[in-house]
Amino acid sequence: MRRVFIHTFGCQMNESDSARMLEALSREGWSAAAEAAEADLILVNTCAVRDKAEQKLYSALGRYRAAKRARGALLGVAGCVAQQEKDRLLERAPYVDFVVGPDNLSRLPALVRAAAAGEGPQVETGRMDADRYVFPRADPALARAPTAFVTAMKGCDNVCSFCIVPYTRGREQSRPYGEVVAEVEGLVAVGVREVTLIGQNVNSYRGGCGFAALLRRVAEVPGLARLRFTTSHPQDFGEDLARCFADLPVLCPHLHLPVQSGSDAVLSRMRRGYTAAEYEARVAVLREIAPGVALTSDVIAGFPGETEEDYAATLRLVERVRFDNLYSFVYSPRPHTAAALREEEWGRVPYAVQVERLERLQALQRAVSAEIMARAVGSEVEVLVEGPSHDGARRCGHTPENRMVNFDGTAAAGALVRVRVEGASPASLSGRQTAVLSEPPAARVRLAIVA
Ligand code: SAM
Ligand code: SF4
Ligand code: F3S
Repeated sequence: MRRVFIHTFGCQMNESDSARMLEALSREGWSAAAEAAEADLILVNTCAVRDKAEQKLYSALGRYRAAKRARGALLGVAGCVAQQEKDRLLERAPYVDFVVGPDNLSRLPALVRAAAAGEGPQVETGRMDADRYVFPRADPALARAPTAFVTAMKGCDNVCSFCIVPYTRGREQSRPYGEVVAEVEGLVAVGVREVTLIGQNVNSYRGGCGFAALLRRVAEVPGLARLRFTTSHPQDFGEDLARCFADLPVLCPHLHLPVQSGSDAVLSRMRRGYTAAEYEARVAVLREIAPGVALTSDVIAGFPGETEEDYAATLRLVERVRFDNLYSFVYSPRPHTAAALREEEWGRVPYAVQVERLERLQALQRAVSAEIMARAVGSEVEVLVEGPSHDGARRCGHTPENRMVNFDGTAAAGALVRVRVEGASPASLSGRQTAVLSEPPAARVRLAIVA
């Protein structure tokens, strides 16, 4: 059997696309390879969001070139750098066999066949018209994990001045709600317990109903234990969505709501469409309606023109809001973006200053996260078991609030268990299993035996 190794960078959209690519290739007789050295096809699914992510592609390609030489493996590049660079990628890495953009995943099997037949490098990065685009759909027959991503929408119609995603992923397009619900039903029927609805801007969904209505429809799928969604934009976050957290027992109490900065001047240059006070007002509405929701966010440090005072405003916002967790990045100029074009005009923040600001922010967040996580010690939490912990010695999974838990226990992947929390770090909890709340559904057991 021919084997494929997929190396995935970037966000949940890419993770989901990689799963769909593996499924499409499985139907053509391919199986997954554990490492590149054993693969007949190596696929790199790339991210273009920051320059560092793009550089990682080129260093990975350098490594995979050796595997290509040693085994004659085929080498393909997918994802956002593929879309950004198109055929220019072949100038920099002429040994790549094909380049495929996120809109063209359905072409993957044909590209692989052409490459195997020695037809020379192929590039498929054309934009797909809305009426021709078919959302990639998870194949329930191949679902193995207790959790799954389901695409609700793709692309982004916002114009954040720092962001390349609208260029790489194109215009926003929502999937009709009937398709989303049917995909969730199909996955639950084979034992998937937790579904995350994904989209770059998932709460601007308009697939025949609004996003809150979509959540309510999906929440009704019988047998679904947990529902999540990501990523939400603050400007589209309203009371209707906050109410879903209060009303829907399967909707997990976790919201990722990227704020990016606490300074109104910076937010305006970023073109985020809200002020810091408006962001905090939305958080206040959420906490009023659904007090237990864990909140996480993204912040960019050292955006062009950001002064020390602007940055102090971000630190103050982080202190006030008290996020569970924060993903923070140094600003990275990206091609095709307004901020990259106007960086000189707005004033570039020196790299050393960017890094210093990032470190201060991360130290503050670590302290906040440590306090929030420490409060869980002594309590019992519900965990959906995902499998062995990273070191292989224990079991691991997440709480409804999306807190990672490593624990002593024996429950199978897909079981819901109760864990007594005995320790906490800013990033994870640890403890021991005290009860199995529900075993993995029967369909999952059957599949596992077949597999
Ligand atoms: N759609 C989401 C939103 O609007 O909040 C964000 C999606 S983006 C792929 C994920 C995060 O990457 C952003 O929230 C932002 O913090 C970060 N990011 C995007 N472009 C960046 C850049 N040029 N430099 C640094 N970080 C960036
Ligand atoms: Fe990028 Fe802004 Fe769209 Fe998020 S909302 S993907 S940050 S342009
Ligand atoms: Fe990266 Fe593309 Fe996602 S740029 S963050 S992989 S949409």
